[in-house]
Amino acid sequence: MAATTCSAQKIWINTDLATLDPSVEAPYGMLTNHAIGVRNGKIEFITPMNGFDLDRVTGELIDAGGACMTPGLIDSHSHLIYGGQRAGEFSQRLGGASYAEISRAGGGILATVAATRSLSEAKLVEQARPRLEALLAEGVTTVEIKSGYGLTVKDELKMLRAARTLADDYPVRLRSTLLAAHALPPEFQGDAEAYIELICKELIPRVAQEQLAEAVDVFCEPIAFSLAQCEKIFIAAKEAGLGIKAHVEQLSNSQGAALAARFSAWSVDHLEYLDAAGIAALQQSGSVATLLPGAFYFLGASKKPPVEALRQARIPLALASDLNPGSSPLASLRLMMNMGCVLFGLNPEEALLGTTRNAAAALGLGATIGTLRVGKAADMLLWPIEDPAQLSYQFGALAPRQRIFAGEICDA
Ligand code: NIG
Ligand code: FE
Repeated sequence: MAATTCSAQKIWINTDLATLDPSVEAPYGMLTNHAIGVRNGKIEFITPMNGFDLDRVTGELIDAGGACMTPGLIDSHSHLIYGGQRAGEFSQRLGGASYAEISRAGGGILATVAATRSLSEAKLVEQARPRLEALLAEGVTTVEIKSGYGLTVKDELKMLRAARTLADDYPVRLRSTLLAAHALPPEFQGDAEAYIELICKELIPRVAQEQLAEAVDVFCEPIAFSLAQCEKIFIAAKEAGLGIKAHVEQLSNSQGAALAARFSAWSVDHLEYLDAAGIAALQQSGSVATLLPGAFYFLGASKKPPVEALRQARIPLALASDLNPGSSPLASLRLMMNMGCVLFGLNPEEALLGTTRNAAAALGLGATIGTLRVGKAADMLLWPIEDPAQLSYQFGALAPRQRIFAGEICDA
């Protein structure tokens, strides 16, 4: 093989690349003993060490010493901006109350709404810092953050601005999602239609115009919003040019996934009660099925999402933290990878795909992040591991040796 001339700003040599690229036909898209160069924040080249002439290279060389490189991890579903905590409800649930009962009694999401409304944007940012820092320390380079605990125009915008202010302080990519249809706010009790109208006519156009979110999400459940209400929101989101995500079939089979699929949702999330018709609809839409094992575990649920049927239907699976104060106060995407395997039966490769390539697609970012491929953003992690399965197998005492964001090394 002819010697290659390679020029880049930084070049990692002697590394095993778990590219997750579908065009590389090996588990994890693995390219052993390769070099990877980055320039201007993007991956410039990927080449085997065999035939790579170090004398013909321009750029800063970094010897990975055989370590494994993966794409940066992507948490595609979080609610990490919120006020307060709900440990009291945790105790109530341990005493036998259900999540839905607590919610109907005015606790649950509405308790966090009150706490979130009472805080300034700056205070919300301060409370969220340790949660984002925990994700970043374990290798997250892109995070999605939802609103949904404000439920007024002012407070939803405050949450979305807090998300942006927070993310601006760290080497991380942010995708924000407007989740105004999370719960019916107290001021609209008995008039859900008026609240839906406020979301569609005022909030969605404003958020789109101010570019405060890239997508719109809904909570489609009997304790939250109906199919018809969610449909109105999807129509308004499409008109505003925003992506669509949806909390569906978590506590009941409400056919929300099929509805979201009709609107070409980026992702449908939770899915414990998803049925065959929902799976067929997802096959048509290409939406990602996002599994949230943290909420399943923390709520002590017993009905599992239909993983084998989703797999047979070749629907891309993502795994996310759902980090929130009520159903998943668990600030770890790596824990989700472990739980995705142990609780839902994913294999470690599916778990890593679910936090890289498929998580990127769940955020409408499939073309820019999620795999190690020339032209994509150089968001990369160098791990002290021998086998990428360790990322799902092992929890604790394992952090990236190097965290590379947009081509820059920024150790946690
Ligand atoms: O994804 N399902 C709705 N939203 C969250 C729970 C939010 C909360 O309880 O505060 C979830 O599980
Ligand atoms: Fe959620």
